[in-house]
Amino acid sequence: MSHALQFADDGRLRHLLTLDGLDAGRVNGLLERAEQMLPHAHAGTALRRRHAGRTLCTLFFEASTRTRSSFQLAATRLGMDVLNFDVATSSTKKGESALDTLKTIEAMGVDVFVIRHADDGAVAALAAGANPGTRVINAGDGRAAHPTQGLLDMLTLRQHKGADFAALKVLVAGDLLHSRVARSDLHALRALGCGEIRVCGPGNLLPDADTLRGCRVVERFDDAIAGVDVAIMLRLQRERMEQGLVASLEDYFRDYGLDPRRLALAAPDAIVMHPGPMNRGIEIDGAVADGPQSRVLAQVANGLPVRMAVIDALLS
Ligand code: NCD
Repeated sequence: MSHALQFADDGRLRHLLTLDGLDAGRVNGLLERAEQMLPHAHAGTALRRRHAGRTLCTLFFEASTRTRSSFQLAATRLGMDVLNFDVATSSTKKGESALDTLKTIEAMGVDVFVIRHADDGAVAALAAGANPGTRVINAGDGRAAHPTQGLLDMLTLRQHKGADFAALKVLVAGDLLHSRVARSDLHALRALGCGEIRVCGPGNLLPDADTLRGCRVVERFDDAIAGVDVAIMLRLQRERMEQGLVASLEDYFRDYGLDPRRLALAAPDAIVMHPGPMNRGIEIDGAVADGPQSRVLAQVANGLPVRMAVIDALLS
């Protein structure tokens, strides 16, 4: 549903709900637009009139640190008015539905909604109910997709490893089952023709075969990381897990944690990524997270130009 819904009749991108089904041309187009935004992303003023008079609303039914702030700054850099709707203190607490909430704010003249929701498909359902002129950007729905995180991860890869994805070996490791970031990264890596995609995690935290199509599942972490150019580590999503999926956090770190010894098995110039929030000492050692091969804060920085590019593409 998400894929078809995000295109207008003339084939242009109207919403960004998922990277699933986008081709290399479309993904690269967004990455190139993000590269053009880079000089204007951090305190830039040149684009302050670009979308002046338009309004963006962040509507987050789930917590966020990075995504919401960077959308807010991205829209501001483009001259937009920004409304950060506070779900926690709103009438959704009195039982107002998500769609009624959206329609209410939409009536105030919002052009772009950035929405995060705990349920798979919830953002697409809201996009389906929005007015024809309204654009919706998925800031994460359940386990399904987090397309702007996927794009900023690809921008980070391009900057540090070059645009020839066919030459890259990329590992995605940890709690893939619960991770919308992993799904969007896999969609993008496949679209861009990544040379080898390896995945590694406890068997009960790996998703279904369709999600993993084109990936090589490697059981032992030491084998999985051997020779890779990029290791994308994922947060162990304890809040989404029924008790018992992981024996103990100590065992998890021992078997699937990225520490300096394991990182030494990767290619010598390998980079380490993590979407945040990080659980230090569970999926990643603090020494790796803060070490010279970490690109965690570069990912955060890239959130701005990527989100500027997506907003710009939907409004242009
Ligand atoms: C993630 C999310 O919420 O999907 N964070 C993010 O947006 N960078 C990943 C997570 O919660 O583990």
